[in-house]
Amino acid sequence: MTDPSLLAALAQALERDPRNGALWIHYAELLIAAQRSDEALAALRNAVEIPSARAQALRKLVPLLRQRGLLAEALIRAEAALESAPDPELAKEVELIEALRGNPKEPSEPSLPVPSAPARSAPAPAVPPAPATPRADPPVQEPREDDEALAEIQPEPIDDAEWAAQFDWGDLRVTFKDVAGLDDVKRQVNLRIIAPFKQPEVYQAFGRKGGGGILLYGPPGCGKTYLARAVAGELGARFVSVSIHDVLDKYWGESQRLIHALFEQARRNAPTVLFFDEFDALGSTRGREEQQYWKTLVDQLLQEMDGVGGRNRDVLMVAATNVPWNVDSAFRRPGRFDRVLLVTPPDKSARTAMLEQNLRTLPGGEALDVRGAVEKTELYSGADLVELANRTTERALERSLESGQIHRVEPKDLERAIASTRASTLEWLAMARNYARYSNEGGQYDELVEYLKRVKKW
Ligand SMILES: Nc1ncnc2c1ncn2[C@@H]1O[C@H](COP(=O)(O)OP(=O)(O)O)[C@@H](O)[C@H]1O
Ligand SMILES: [Mg+2]
Repeated sequence: MTDPSLLAALAQALERDPRNGALWIHYAELLIAAQRSDEALAALRNAVEIPSARAQALRKLVPLLRQRGLLAEALIRAEAALESAPDPELAKEVELIEALRGNPKEPSEPSLPVPSAPARSAPAPAVPPAPATPRADPPVQEPREDDEALAEIQPEPIDDAEWAAQFDWGDLRVTFKDVAGLDDVKRQVNLRIIAPFKQPEVYQAFGRKGGGGILLYGPPGCGKTYLARAVAGELGARFVSVSIHDVLDKYWGESQRLIHALFEQARRNAPTVLFFDEFDALGSTRGREEQQYWKTLVDQLLQEMDGVGGRNRDVLMVAATNVPWNVDSAFRRPGRFDRVLLVTPPDKSARTAMLEQNLRTLPGGEALDVRGAVEKTELYSGADLVELANRTTERALERSLESGQIHRVEPKDLERAIASTRASTLEWLAMARNYARYSNEGGQYDELVEYLKRVKKW
């Protein structure tokens, strides 16, 4: 078992020396040994960015991605590397990955076909195919005899409408007033996408066009997704959340066409807030220039976003990422995600609002020291505060379930909960500090720099 204090020491060393490729790899190896593969993945992705460590890091990263089922990324990275230099280990990996995708290069090893994984198609046409007219009945997934011969030649077709329907098109009524704090972000979002939609004539009078999207970034759990939902709520629009990772990994080869289908679906159902979560997965600059597949996909998305002829007038685009520095700058141009907003952990008044709401309403809540809790939860994320409230109720809930009578939450319960939780944003803030320092070209992270200065005391 790896000594956690050794890992912590390495993490610290890396914070001071983030360009040390060999150290990243060493750190990743220890994380793998400690079965912390998410963190190992992150470390190896960092190592790959450093030219001197790139080849060695890829040999570790690709198999790990494969084991984790992140086949698209594994393949993209392996093939990109093989294009620049031969590498028997990576070549072997490509075979394994292709086999897992049910798409062996040569009929060498028995493959494990993934049921619905479409075969990788030839480079897709520059112009996307016309959207399929929505069918009255979704096709039933019954195998028919005459299809079987066809299935050998063609991948099983994915129905556009059916595919789009799998996403969360929820119309959950969250609005801005449910989102605590973040006043400045709300103001910007309002100015940028809500008002142009609600009062287009005002914008026209000033010679301004609406359009363009917003990229939200910040530590996890601080309300990026929640805020995006609230934008839809404010407008009475549909909300659809698309995870880029899902699209890339599940629909390899088809994803370009499906992205088009998704936009078409959004336009048909407008007004729609199209929300791209984990946006960095697609916007990544890593190896992109070497990789045709990735490139055509990004181009497709850019083309859809640009929405020729005002086609996206009622499709509002919001994206979120924890790692904005991995987002391709092509996505930041005017008309695209040209507003980049930092979503910070709740400040004092936002924490007060959230804790009042989550704690005061409990049985016994009136006796809780909410003000004290606010003081002790600096840099807690919104999600951390929700967790804190849950922990506070645990004992009373248990007792109530046992006795069948409602037991009250006691001040001690809250104290214990505070003692047993911590702010989950600290790692992100430490990492962000490095990026703010080293990649703040054009002042793009000025807002972050300012914020970090203000909270420096941690
Ligand atoms: N500012 C906030 N106001 C109210 N609730 C919040 C806030 N930030 C986070 N939360 C709570 O935490 C949960 C997780 O937030 P989420 O939006 O998923 O974070 P992110 O997308 O930034 O990782 C939300 O569903 C909400 O319950
Ligand atoms: Mg989120």
